[in-house]
Amino acid sequence: MFGVVLCAVREFYRVSAAALTSVAIGVQMKALVLAGGAGTRLRPITYTSAKQLVPLANKPILFYGIETLVEAGVCEIGIVVGDTWREVEAAVGDGSRWGISVTFLRQEAPLGLAHCVLIAQDFLGSEPFVMYLGDNFLVGGVQDFVRSFQQDQPNAQILLSKVSNPCQFGVVELDSQGMVRRLVEKPTVPLSNLALVGVYFFDACVHEAVRAIEPSDRGELEITDAIQWLVDKGKSVRASTVTGPWIDTGKKDDLLEANRIVLDMIESRVDGFVDVSSKIVGRVVVESGAQVRDSVVRGPAIVGKGALVANSYIGPYSAVGPDCRVEDAELEHSILLKGSAVQGVRRIEDSLIGRGAMVGRSVDQPRAMRFLLGDHSEAHVCGS
Ligand code: DAU
Repeated sequence: MFGVVLCAVREFYRVSAAALTSVAIGVQMKALVLAGGAGTRLRPITYTSAKQLVPLANKPILFYGIETLVEAGVCEIGIVVGDTWREVEAAVGDGSRWGISVTFLRQEAPLGLAHCVLIAQDFLGSEPFVMYLGDNFLVGGVQDFVRSFQQDQPNAQILLSKVSNPCQFGVVELDSQGMVRRLVEKPTVPLSNLALVGVYFFDACVHEAVRAIEPSDRGELEITDAIQWLVDKGKSVRASTVTGPWIDTGKKDDLLEANRIVLDMIESRVDGFVDVSSKIVGRVVVESGAQVRDSVVRGPAIVGKGALVANSYIGPYSAVGPDCRVEDAELEHSILLKGSAVQGVRRIEDSLIGRGAMVGRSVDQPRAMRFLLGDHSEAHVCGS
């Protein structure tokens, strides 16, 4: 309730400002955020956790997307959830922390992005909306795209980004006028280097499109096929290119890269305890209840609530999650999820360590490496 009132106040000022400048901006566009799916590329993390909740600088990726939408004036968000619905719903809550209302839409199986639109039809009604993939990380916001979509009212507006590995995305071919001609989902031979960013704008025509298409070879209703259907029917499908960084955080290295970008933007803050023999260098956040003892933390880095860093070095682009323990260790360019521990190990880089996981020094005889790794875990050891 509080969220809806806050939203109404925000909307009043937004619409008034728009009226003053004679800009024909529509009222309150809804958003559909996709936070279901299987997350196979992030196993084993996704065996126990939703990929959209993996943190960047200790905040779930999904929250960055929601905040981007809120910043653009969206007040009502429908979030598609799958097997991990409990965790996603608990993390997001009712949306009041952002002053918005949130509705969760359960998808019984990951049947594709267009299937998400299909099951969200009652929530969306016949108004234009923005669809945002909950594992996408986009710097620079979507405000300008929302504005141009509302002003020009094409049937669909897609965002593109130039990539070096187009076969891993939906790929778009434009004609000489820059209009969308063809879209193919993860082609074996790329049509161009223009990947579909996971932010799409649609009017009500998309509902007919998602009903008309058939599942792809991988058994999913593809949103790229629905957009192609719109193109083939002569609907106006506009493409804009994003200029800022965009990352589909489906894999470990993409996550680390997104974490790096977020940490590069943090402001220093020490709410926890740092003893006199420790050194904090550069932009570092030490959250409340965290302790840094006999250590060096070189930012950009964050040490989460209740974490302990003792006799260690935390290097740039590290995010130590809440309640983690880093003791007699060195860490750089890594993400430690809640409650994990790194003890007696020098040195860890480019790593993503799951919740409650432990990386420690082996002291028992015979000297050997000892692992207890979950399915699809990766361990890269160095030395003899
Ligand atoms: O990130 C951009 C790419 O996203 C686009 O270039 C592709 O055209 C588009 O198909 C999509 O490809 P991905 O393979 O990365 O999609 P993924 O399966 O990772 O799903 C994207 C988000 O949607 C993710 O948060 C999970 C959620 N999802 C996915 C499916 C298949 C659902 O909520 N339900 C689903 O059925």
